[in-house]
Amino acid sequence: MRQLQLVAFGEPSEVIELNTVSEPLLGQDDVLVSMEAAPINPSDFLLVRGMYGVRPAFPFSVGAEGVGRVTQTGSKVDVALQGKRVLILPTLEQGTWADQVVVPVRNLVPMSDEADPLQLSMIGINPVTAYLLLNRYVSLMPGDWIGQTAANSAMGQYIIALAKLAGVKTLNVVRREDAAEQVRQWGGDRVVQQGDNLHKDIEEALNGKKLSLVLDNVGGTPVGELAKSLKTGGSTVVYAVLSGQFPAISPKDLIYRDLSLHGFWLMNWIRNAPRTEIQEIYQKLGDLVADGSLYAAMEHVYPLEQFKEAFTRSLRSHRGGKILFQFGAH
Ligand SMILES: NC(=O)c1ccc[n+]([C@@H]2O[C@H](COP(=O)([O-])OP(=O)(O)OC[C@H]3O[C@@H](n4cnc5c(N)ncnc54)[C@H](OP(=O)(O)O)[C@@H]3O)[C@@H](O)[C@H]2O)c1
Repeated sequence: MRQLQLVAFGEPSEVIELNTVSEPLLGQDDVLVSMEAAPINPSDFLLVRGMYGVRPAFPFSVGAEGVGRVTQTGSKVDVALQGKRVLILPTLEQGTWADQVVVPVRNLVPMSDEADPLQLSMIGINPVTAYLLLNRYVSLMPGDWIGQTAANSAMGQYIIALAKLAGVKTLNVVRREDAAEQVRQWGGDRVVQQGDNLHKDIEEALNGKKLSLVLDNVGGTPVGELAKSLKTGGSTVVYAVLSGQFPAISPKDLIYRDLSLHGFWLMNWIRNAPRTEIQEIYQKLGDLVADGSLYAAMEHVYPLEQFKEAFTRSLRSHRGGKILFQFGAH
């Protein structure tokens, strides 16, 4: 089987190799999955550069999430799983950028045959994060407003879709006009562009309404400008820092208006939540992908051997959507 392996921390194209490894013996609780699709996420590159919350030993099989079909089962695994499509949970115990992968059965969730495997391959990280961000911190009611940064990211698209299903309105910040248009097409209720007058633009867009929740993946000043429009007692959740700058939220806002500031990392939930809760939420999200309610824009798919082109394209800003590996379709 062929897999992309990380051999040192550094720039993705320089430290990842495509290697052929012999098929390992299956443990009694393992299955062999023949991969269908696996996306490339910003967190994969953080890990590759040694800047992530997990620093693996080398060689390390990369790729956090994806879908495939079970082709073999270990002696203690139900043989009925053979041939089934499964989602591989992003536990980082198995690398999904591989044509075949051995996975402990506890890290799998069965998925629908009807849904697009490319779309399904992306639900392990972003949609579940969007779901948890919307459900864990404040009790949102239909008609409530939330604000978010980098709204044209895949995360942003899932947040808009899940908020809409709950009747929650979105105020979306982007950093360029063509991204604003894309977010409007996705159903973002208001879209504003990062700039010198961001707070004024946010207030105008909200027209007297206040935000209940701010979701930030950029850091720097935009999150602070959004936080100024939070209700007293509202919450901000920081789940990434794409700009590399600390989230600049005024202590005055935090103190005098009783705002809360939280951090979120999916890995903590995957490690600590009961498996039944994890399975239930992923199955719910898989159903939403199957009925078309959840979708992420895709820019291009690549076969595994074109991994360097895939990385270069994935690292570009102003992308139109996700870059993914697709297996067996080329
Ligand atoms: N904490 C967690 O558990 C968790 C879970 C899921 C995702 N995340 C994080 O969420 C972030 C988004 O992930 P994704 O998969 O949705 O990303 P994505 O689809 O690849 O999109 C990346 C987005 O980042 C924007 N961006 C990049 N640098 C920026 C900057 N300096 N200022 C403003 N915007 C910037 C891009 O804007 P342009 O289009 O204008 O270039 C684009 O909208 C990533 O950092 C990811 O690691 C965290």
